[in-house]
Amino acid sequence: MSGRHINILGIETSCDETAAAIVQNGRVILSNVIASSLKEHQKFGGIIPEIASRRQLECINSVVASALHKADLKLNDVHYVAVTSSPGLIGSLLVGLSYARALSFSIGKPLIEVNHVESHLYASFLEDPSQTPARLRPRLPAIGLIISGGHTSLYVIKDFKNLNLLGHTRDDAAGEAFDKVARILHLSYPGGPVIDRLAKQASRSQLTFPCSELGDSHDFSFSGLKTAVLYHTQKNPVTTDEERAEIARAFQESVVSILVKKSINACEKLKIPTLLIGGGVAANSALRETLLTKATAHSIKAFFPPFQLCVDNAAMIAGYAYHQRK
Ligand code: KG4
Ligand code: ZN
Repeated sequence: MSGRHINILGIETSCDETAAAIVQNGRVILSNVIASSLKEHQKFGGIIPEIASRRQLECINSVVASALHKADLKLNDVHYVAVTSSPGLIGSLLVGLSYARALSFSIGKPLIEVNHVESHLYASFLEDPSQTPARLRPRLPAIGLIISGGHTSLYVIKDFKNLNLLGHTRDDAAGEAFDKVARILHLSYPGGPVIDRLAKQASRSQLTFPCSELGDSHDFSFSGLKTAVLYHTQKNPVTTDEERAEIARAFQESVVSILVKKSINACEKLKIPTLLIGGGVAANSALRETLLTKATAHSIKAFFPPFQLCVDNAAMIAGYAYHQRK
C-alpha cells in the first residue's frame, strides 16, 4: 500500500442518482459528487428505471472524473474501488457495477462490493472537512435504524462486519409511505420533503391516523396507515391547503411516533444506548427533533447524518467499504 492514507473511490447508482466520492481512511470526505435524474421522473410520480439507467450510463464517467478532480487526486492515488452491488434498480446497479469492475481491473486496484442499505448507517461516521464545527462521531455497539424509500429496518451493530437484523417492515417502507401519501394528497414526488414542509404549515391537527404497532415485535408496518389516509380523503375530499397540511401533519406524527418508540425500545431492550439513523427519511425535521429529545430523555445518544448524507450518496459507500476490505 503506497502512502499512509487509504483512498477509496466509491460509486453509487442504485436508484435515480449517479454518485462518486473519495473518502480517506474510511472517514474523511475528500469529494462527494451527485448527479440526479430526479426531475425527469417527477412527471411520472415515481422513478422510471429505463430513464435512470440511461442517464447513469451517460454521466458516470464525468461524475467519477469530477470526484477525482475535486479531491485533487489521480486514478493512481486510488487504493480501492467500491461500488453498490445491491439492493436497487437492476439496470442502474448494472451500470455502476460494470463501470467499477472495469475500472478496478484497468487500474489494478481491488474492487469492494457494498450493500447500499447497510452503508446508510455509516453516514454518521463520516467527516466533511468543509463543514464546521466538526461533528461528534458515534461509537459501536449501536442500534441502527434504516429508513429509506425501499427499506425500514432495525439492526444491532457490533462492528461493521457484523450487522444483525432485529426487525424490518412487513409491508411498505417508511419513505414509501411518505411517497404514497403524497400521491394521495396530489403532491409531487418524492413525497417526504414535501410532506415535511407542508406539515409545518398546520399548527396542530385534530386528526389522528393509527399506525400498527405489532406488539413487542421490532417489525414495522406502514400500509394500514397509508390506507387510513386514503379512506379519510375518500370520505372527506380535500378542498383547502389547510386541510391538506393537517392530514400531512397527522400522518407524519404517526410515522414519527412509531419510529421513535421502536428504536428507543430496541436500545433499552438490548441495553445499547447508542442509536444510528440513516436513509432518506432521516432528513425529516419532525423526526430529528422528536427523536433527539426523546433519546436524550432516555439517556440514549442518537446520531443523524447531516442532510446531504441522509439521501443516497457515494461517500457512505466509500466509507463503509473501508471496513469491508479483506
Ligand atoms: O435513502 P433514500 O435517498 O433512497 C433509498 O435508498 O430509498 O430515500 C428516499 C426516501 C423517499 O421515499 C423520500 O420521500 C424520503 O426518503 N425522504 C423523506 C425526506 N426526505 C427524503 N421522508 C421524510 N421526510 C423528509 N424530509
Ligand atoms: Zn438509499
